[in-house]
Amino acid sequence: MLTPLAVSLAGAVSAGETEERGRVIAQANCARCHNIAAAGDSPFPPAPPFRVIARMYRASDLEEAFVEGIVVGHPAMPEFTMTATQAAALSTFIDSLDR
Ligand code: HEC
Repeated sequence: MLTPLAVSLAGAVSAGETEERGRVIAQANCARCHNIAAAGDSPFPPAPPFRVIARMYRASDLEEAFVEGIVVGHPAMPEFTMTATQAAALSTFIDSLDR
């Protein structure tokens, strides 16, 4: 009887951890250009704030793009390749800005 409860609690904790891990990735790799907070402008104005990107794209589409390596038609944006786990964390974090 206790096992299903333990499993669902573990799931709830790890969802928050996933979002936090995504925030750390964004802070380290994206925040020098994109604003990654709930308000404010991007440090590099041509880069849309992540909360704007969150409204433009579904989390599942972002996640797929991150795994494949997003290529934007803009030389200022470096190409990133990341693991599936990192992509999931980052898209979960970006999605959390659109609440
Ligand atoms: C050196 C600056 C820079 C960094 C670092 C950077 N970006 Fe960008 N990013 C841009 C710019 C500039 C644009 C706007 C490109 C355009 O509109 O053509 C952009 C656009 C985007 C878009 C929208 C693409 C589209 O087609 O609309 C996404 C998603 C994105 N960036 C994600 C990220 C993620 C995730 C990271 C970190 C892993 C990151 N960016 C790091 C500069 C940057």
